[in-house]
Amino acid sequence: MNRAIRIILILSIAFIAGCYYDNEERLYPKQSSPCDDTIVTFSGTVTQILQPCLSCHATSSTAGGGYFLQNYSDVQKYVISGQLMNSLNHIGGHDMPLGGGKLLDCEIAQIQKWIDNKSPNN
Ligand code: HEC
Repeated sequence: MNRAIRIILILSIAFIAGCYYDNEERLYPKQSSPCDDTIVTFSGTVTQILQPCLSCHATSSTAGGGYFLQNYSDVQKYVISGQLMNSLNHIGGHDMPLGGGKLLDCEIAQIQKWIDNKSPNN
C-alpha cells in the first residue's frame, strides 16, 4: 500500500466515524433521554411540577375546591391521603389537572420518587 492510499484510508475512517457520531446525536437527542429522577427535592422539583396547579390550588384561590398545593404542609396532606398521586394518575375520578391532560410520565415519576423518599421538605 502506498502512502497516499494509506492517508486516504485513514481520512475516510475518520470521516465515517465522524458521521456515525453525528447520527447518534440525531438518533438520541436530549429530549428523549431517560427520565432523570436521581435527585428530586420539594423546592427544586415538586414545586416546579405543581406550579401550573396553582392557578386553581394557590392559597388565595377558590377555584380548587378548597384544596391547596402551595405549601409543603398542604402538599404533604394529599401525599399522605393518597389523593395527590391518585389525581395525577387519573385514578378515583378527580383527574388533575382539571380539564387538562395528564402531566408528563417523567413528572409523575419524579413526584412518586420524592414520595418514595418519604417526601422530605428539602
Ligand atoms: C382548573 C382548575 C384546576 C387545576 C388547574 C387543577 N385542579 Fe385540582 N382540583 C380542582 C377542583 C375544582 C377540585 C375539587 C373537585 C374535585 O375534587 O374534582 C380539585 C381537587 C384536587 C385534589 C383533591 C382530589 C380528591 O381526591 O378529592 C387534588 C389532590 C388536586 N386537585 C390536585 C391537583 C394537581 C396536582 C393539579 C396540577 C397537576 C391540579 N389539581 C390542577 C381544580 C383544579
